[in-house]
Amino acid sequence: MRLAVNIDHVATIREARGGIEPDPVHAAVLAELAGAAGIVCHLREDRRHINDRDVRALRDIVTTKLDLEMAATTEIITIALEIEPDLVTIVPEKRQELTTEGGLNVADNEVFLTEVVDMFHDRGIAVSLFIEPESTQVEAAARTGCDIIELHTGTYANARVPGEVDRQLVRIRNAAERAADEGLVVTAGHGLHLRNLEPITKIHQIEEVSIGHALIAHALFVGMDRAVRDYLDVLRN
Ligand code: PXP
Repeated sequence: MRLAVNIDHVATIREARGGIEPDPVHAAVLAELAGAAGIVCHLREDRRHINDRDVRALRDIVTTKLDLEMAATTEIITIALEIEPDLVTIVPEKRQELTTEGGLNVADNEVFLTEVVDMFHDRGIAVSLFIEPESTQVEAAARTGCDIIELHTGTYANARVPGEVDRQLVRIRNAAERAADEGLVVTAGHGLHLRNLEPITKIHQIEEVSIGHALIAHALFVGMDRAVRDYLDVLRN
């Protein structure tokens, strides 16, 4: 299972002072050197962390895979088509939310999302849709022609009682199996950390996890290199 590192929260710390440090570009270089298979950043409409300069600089320096997480708005689609990341991950976005709160409702927006997928494919950019682990969403995602689905693991990560944790894992496993049957590449992310990652590694259809907040928080204390390697250890064992 590969690790994609989301570096948004390096930019969050920078924005706390509105200066130039710490630079998410430096974090991306260190994450790649430590073994990350990809770098993820979310260019939000309100530019609360990653900004336009970051995305351009990351496009220049990322040598593994640059995944631009984004809402499917006209402004951000225009920027993405210009910058040409390797991959875009389409997410729902609300201004007031602290982080992405749930998956896309692909089933209710299939026609629009199919157009978005086509637009990126015409430019040779792969598309991932961030969805809830539900068969209706998986099937609708497959019909859009997207390449990848990223399963939202936030509900699993927030589950506290053992029965609920297991129930959420079954949802993720079933959705991953359904997506693989549809020929989609399956990834997962949101709320994952060193203590809840292992059960996800047992779902063999999931090829990659996308991890941000907990990994950057860990890196504050142990450094970026060690933080990435600690996560890779869990994925490899
Ligand atoms: N995947 C998606 C689609 C996300 O929106 C986020 C949060 O930016 C992540 C993965 C990473 O989540 P976390 O920061 O909780 O690890």
